[in-house]
Amino acid sequence: MRAVDVIIKKRDKGTLTREEIEFFIEGFTSGKIPDYQAAAWAMAVLLNGMTDQETTDLTLAMAHSGEMLDLSAAVKIAVDKHSTGGVGDKTTLVVEPLVAACGLPVGKMSGRGLGFSGGTLDKMESIPGFQVNLTREQFMEQLAKEGLVLAGQSADLAPADGKLYALRDVTGTVQSIPLIASSVMSKKIAAGAQAIVLDVKIGNGAFMTSLEEGRRLAQLMVAIGKLSGRTTVALLSDMNQPLGFAVGNALEVKEAIETLQNGGPHDFREHCLVVASHLLRVGGRAADIQTGREIAEKALASGSAWQAFRRLVQIQGGDVSYVDQPEKFPLAPVIETISAPQSGVIRMIHARTVGETSVELGAGRAVKTDSIDHRVGIIVHRKVGETIRAGDALFTVHAASPESLAYARQRLLAAVEISSGPVEELPLFYGVIE
Ligand code: URA
Repeated sequence: MRAVDVIIKKRDKGTLTREEIEFFIEGFTSGKIPDYQAAAWAMAVLLNGMTDQETTDLTLAMAHSGEMLDLSAAVKIAVDKHSTGGVGDKTTLVVEPLVAACGLPVGKMSGRGLGFSGGTLDKMESIPGFQVNLTREQFMEQLAKEGLVLAGQSADLAPADGKLYALRDVTGTVQSIPLIASSVMSKKIAAGAQAIVLDVKIGNGAFMTSLEEGRRLAQLMVAIGKLSGRTTVALLSDMNQPLGFAVGNALEVKEAIETLQNGGPHDFREHCLVVASHLLRVGGRAADIQTGREIAEKALASGSAWQAFRRLVQIQGGDVSYVDQPEKFPLAPVIETISAPQSGVIRMIHARTVGETSVELGAGRAVKTDSIDHRVGIIVHRKVGETIRAGDALFTVHAASPESLAYARQRLLAAVEISSGPVEELPLFYGVIE
């Protein structure tokens, strides 16, 4: 078999066999198939699509490209959650300790920021000392003993996805439903998840911008989960405005702490409760969603979710004095509030622009080797549908320099639309696919 023939077949809208897909992924992972052929193939997939069977074969080939974790020695049922990426999406920081506090152990491997969307590892590293690089043995031991781990993905896990993702990022081939579905599901399957809750973000601050695309991606991932014997549920959630108020690493950690202490923004708290209740159900801790929600609400109110987060920080080497006294997190040197230029109702807060502005401020990376400024970011004070008066605070920008503040001010003012007429609030969720 030759790589070029597999590329030509996909270019000409053919359906690849399992053998062809396995050959291509094995060759790419081992380095026998070079990046330029893999890039050409990814573009052919993006343009011509894949059948559900091809996508499932691709997922399994990528999952098996490295080590397959078996968590059964550490937990009765291994649950996992995955968000397809958004702006202000700090859900894992709250949901993981929350469900652990409800008696459902979770060992989670998370990622870093990608484009305009933030990453859990970058956020947690705002806490001085917090270690995300754990060996497999450390991961398993902590999961068995503490029921709570939050680590980076080891290089041995679905390495084909790691390589392909880096290539897609720079070849315009991220936005492909079969490639996203196989990327997400290969990692979850390799990480040993038996029950998976997917949070598929839809809107201008997500990779899937329309409900139709989001639903198709969710259906495909649920089908792949089922075919590979994993219980999979996908929530379709809104990402047309940032989730919660905080965007940027340390700012998001502080908002997660407020939420774990039974406060936090209403939309973010509600989002976390819904994700947690689904996790508790698929993980067998709750008979149904309603019971899951009740248990989760109690864990927030009693402080046990907060204690679980504190413990997680402590076990992984983080300085708990920061989470105990969030005012210890260093502040950016330039902080300024941007006010509404006119009265009216908020029609739009363009999530992607807010995410991109936060990255430009230094909260994310332009290239892989960039370092992150954990202090910078944006507090969004308003939600779509809210009535405001001229002069009310719209954003507070935390910037490293007056120049980056000036840039952020101009971009953020352009991200907001204020209208005179009534505007409906945006929904939090668009549906659930089981
Ligand atoms: N998240 C992933 O893990 N992979 C993608 O391809 C897109 C979002």
